[in-house]
Amino acid sequence: MDQFLNDLPKAELHLHLEGSLEPELMFALAERNGIALPYSAVDQLRQAYNFANLQEFLDLYYQGAAVLLTEQDFYDLTWAYVERCKAQNILHIEPFFDPQTHTDRGIPFATVISGISRALQQAETEYGISSGLIMCFLRHLSEDAAFETLQQAEPYLDQIIGIGLDSSEKGHPPAKFERVFAKVRNMGLLTVAHAGEEGPAQNVIDALDILKVDRIDHGVRAIDDPQLIKRLAEEKVALTVCPLSNTRLKVFDDMSQHNILQMLEQGVKVTVNSDDPAYFGGYLTENFIALEKGLGMTQEQAVELARNSFEYSFAKKERKEELFALLDRHCVAR
Ligand code: ADE
Ligand code: ZN
Repeated sequence: MDQFLNDLPKAELHLHLEGSLEPELMFALAERNGIALPYSAVDQLRQAYNFANLQEFLDLYYQGAAVLLTEQDFYDLTWAYVERCKAQNILHIEPFFDPQTHTDRGIPFATVISGISRALQQAETEYGISSGLIMCFLRHLSEDAAFETLQQAEPYLDQIIGIGLDSSEKGHPPAKFERVFAKVRNMGLLTVAHAGEEGPAQNVIDALDILKVDRIDHGVRAIDDPQLIKRLAEEKVALTVCPLSNTRLKVFDDMSQHNILQMLEQGVKVTVNSDDPAYFGGYLTENFIALEKGLGMTQEQAVELARNSFEYSFAKKERKEELFALLDRHCVAR
């Protein structure tokens, strides 16, 4: 089964590039850039990855990202993730990046996006991995700061497929970003938002009704509102669920408590994703394996989850057809 899950053709729709920064690369970049880390070795850093909640993780995640300075650094970060995708038969990716984490440290927006885009282009030409880059606003910062970031992104909009909203959910509800999301939608960009991760089901409703997003990131707290679950299923609103993230950040006590398969059975268009794999103990295959081990996910359910990842991606119709065909071939070949 583990080999089946690894080789299963799949897409990843919820992955923060900064969250794919492995401790080894963090140390290498710190040394290359002459930055001192408050840890003496990789093992010590990994031991610090013990989180009681989202905020404890975010504090380390932003600290870690401070080793990224040059275009080459952003390329190396992204390329390392692409290599993982190649190894796990991930054929389409829609990674997130948080420009404000870098521009607030004086790194030019151009440096960040150039390195990321160069690696994503190479993923396409060298490995045939298609992608769409999603730029996230940090919700603990102001809406004005989001508008400013959008302005900085304007020369690069051909390299961005959509806009997302991440960081601390508690105290920063969707409504705070109503105006900037309206502008983004008017510009023809697709939209997603983290909602119902640590925050209530109401945040999922507000992300849909106020921000009018095309997909919800996480959304697991929707389970508290049966009417909302019904709506998500009826309107085919996809949720990008991140099982290992949710257990590492204590959204669920352990994997046996996770509700992804329950939502799948209720007709919600859920997908599996790794969120911040360098911090949460695994990439996409490891998330699928965790669902098999912790929840008894069947092969049929795994295939349905993989199919959802293609169907609810932002890939063009023709690309989706190719991806479905590859999935069908994999299932027949077994
Ligand atoms: N940024 C990176 N990972 C995140 C998560 N799981 N929730 C909110 N913001 C994030
Ligand atoms: Zn996330």
